Amino acid sequence: MKKEKATVKTFYQMKKSGEKIACLTAYDFFTARVLDEIGIDCILVGDSANMVFYGQKTTLSIGMDQMVYHTQAVCSAVKRALVIADMPFLSYQTSISDAILNAGRFLKEGGAEGVKIEGGLEMVETIKKIIEVGIPVMGHIGLIPQSIHKFGGYSVQGKDEKKRRYLLQSAQKLEEVGCFSIVLESIPKELGKEISESIRTPTIGIGAGPDCDGQILVVNDILGLFEEFKPKFVRKYAELGKEIRKACRKYLEDVKSGEFPSDEESY
Ligand code: KIV
Repeated sequence: MKKEKATVKTFYQMKKSGEKIACLTAYDFFTARVLDEIGIDCILVGDSANMVFYGQKTTLSIGMDQMVYHTQAVCSAVKRALVIADMPFLSYQTSISDAILNAGRFLKEGGAEGVKIEGGLEMVETIKKIIEVGIPVMGHIGLIPQSIHKFGGYSVQGKDEKKRRYLLQSAQKLEEVGCFSIVLESIPKELGKEISESIRTPTIGIGAGPDCDGQILVVNDILGLFEEFKPKFVRKYAELGKEIRKACRKYLEDVKSGEFPSDEESY
């Protein structure tokens, strides 16, 4: 188990040494504590919370106050992992000053150590200003879920030459303005490799193949706690949804039958 506190510098060191960067999302204290204890490198308080925690169909409707609340819960648990907060839809697209103020809230009120922002070339100016005030930014290109209605669904990005060049240029610009890492979502594995090899900035893949510098998945997906759909890139490591049903059903039966509480469980 690694002991040193992970920082944005750790990401660069890991890319240099070839050690893969392992990231997961978390939205609550307990999960964050478990991930931190097992030595996960980075925890993202993702706006995927809107889907997996709040049961909404997209990430679009989650707000700043909800995201700050989840960030506080996660940061209360974490000692070692780098905690990054996801900037929700319309918290950074409206103006540069909105973007700086909202990004700052995640550090001041949430306790995060950086923010994640969706978008390539079109977001570069905003990201540059946020970094200039001292807030580390993780970029996010490829399939960007806040643009789901523009894409018309969760489809693989960067398959044609024009989109491939746009993503490559976006990654290079995001590196130029100082993003400390870039999430590559749902792109062909060859493009994931090409981008990762063309920049010094660590890339974190989610459906972008094995050659990214690190990987991220939504924790509810890998634990079997999200049952609406399963993207191709998700690997399920547990079926906790089934376990929860089993345990709660047994409790229900025990209460109904008078089996619970026993003498030992009574005062
Ligand atoms: O919101 C999220 O969880 C994400 C990732 C998984 C990259 O953006």
